[in-house]
Amino acid sequence: MNDKLIIAMVGLPARGKSTMACKIANALELDDVKVSIFNNGAMRRKFASENTSAPEFFSPQNPEGVEFREKCARINLDMARSFLDSDGQVSIIDAGNVTRKRRRLIDQTFDGFPIFYIECVNADEEVNEVYLERKSSLKEFSHLTPQEAFDSFFKRISYYESIYEPVSEKRNRILVDSFEGCILQVQILDQVPYYDRIRDIITTRIIKNIFLVRHGETYYNLENRIGGDSDLTPKGLAQAEALADYFTNEDLPIIFTSNYKRTLQTAAPIAARQKHCSIIALTEFNEIHAGVCDGMTYQEIREQMPQVAKARNRNKYGYVYPDGEGYVSMEKRIHRGLQKVFYLNNYGDNIMIVGHQAVNRMILSDFVFRQKEEVPYSYMPQNRYYHLQIDPHKKICELKPYAQHP
Ligand code: F6P
Repeated sequence: MNDKLIIAMVGLPARGKSTMACKIANALELDDVKVSIFNNGAMRRKFASENTSAPEFFSPQNPEGVEFREKCARINLDMARSFLDSDGQVSIIDAGNVTRKRRRLIDQTFDGFPIFYIECVNADEEVNEVYLERKSSLKEFSHLTPQEAFDSFFKRISYYESIYEPVSEKRNRILVDSFEGCILQVQILDQVPYYDRIRDIITTRIIKNIFLVRHGETYYNLENRIGGDSDLTPKGLAQAEALADYFTNEDLPIIFTSNYKRTLQTAAPIAARQKHCSIIALTEFNEIHAGVCDGMTYQEIREQMPQVAKARNRNKYGYVYPDGEGYVSMEKRIHRGLQKVFYLNNYGDNIMIVGHQAVNRMILSDFVFRQKEEVPYSYMPQNRYYHLQIDPHKKICELKPYAQHP
């Protein structure tokens, strides 16, 4: 029994528990640990004779709902126990487990086995809201309008909130900010198998596939003009179509873009060619704001504002355009954009980001170490994309063509 462990996730809906559970399971599997996830929501959807997505189903005042969910939880726990009783090593209970009563049930079911509680929180209201919108687009809510789905899920969360008891009573527990991917509190009083490994997994970035794409050619690109909100040229549209063809056989549940037309127009045909794909536009990925130089060509800047051109030339990373931004001042928002991407994207899903020249340089530098002064010069062509893969065993960054000629 020495190498057996129960991990019980704790947290409100939409706090990144399932993503964290998958991340831990996948990384442990790579170490040849036999691990399985037991998800109460999946059990509920499997056994329910009717749609159980209505918020009232989750009201603590609804005895049938409470009883049904209790039953699902027990079946799940029994299955997790059988897994450990055979050759399984780690069972992950992926559920809210928000009350002490429910956690006592877990303790009773696994009497004698070590249990490790992982509580996921996220205090960032804005991010919670975007996550909620994303969740509301799931199949479970497909019979509702987006607003109804959002309200329904919000109500469900408030029911959970009304009974939520943070984990303070357990001997072995960790509190994780799942948006920031950092640990807020730890208490370990017993021997917890795999603990060091799990702690590392929680804080390590593991990425199966990121496809980092720059938008197709725009009318501004043709003139060497910076900033603005230009449309794609016919060649840019052809590049978008070529990308759509190229990625047809990859599963892309979400494409992240900026708010600018050029990234949205590039993403649109790619999304259209997918089975289920939503486009999420993040202001964090908007192109560097060139302030007083917005809309000018590099030539015009050299002629009309030579001091700007010279200063930028001397220190491109550190230079901030008057009334605008510099690479240096984009650091925070790009980091936040990436944190949003990881939080909104289910672990294990492919990630596609359609960004801009400066934005993509900054994103890339977040994964692949580069001296700061080199970052503004990294190569960002419009007929290729960067493919990134990162896990504890490898770190791959490849620049790949997506078509022969566009
Ligand atoms: O030229 C396209 C563009 O995306 C501009 O909008 C932006 O100002 C520029 O690239 C950023 O690149 P650099 O930092 O090399 O000027």
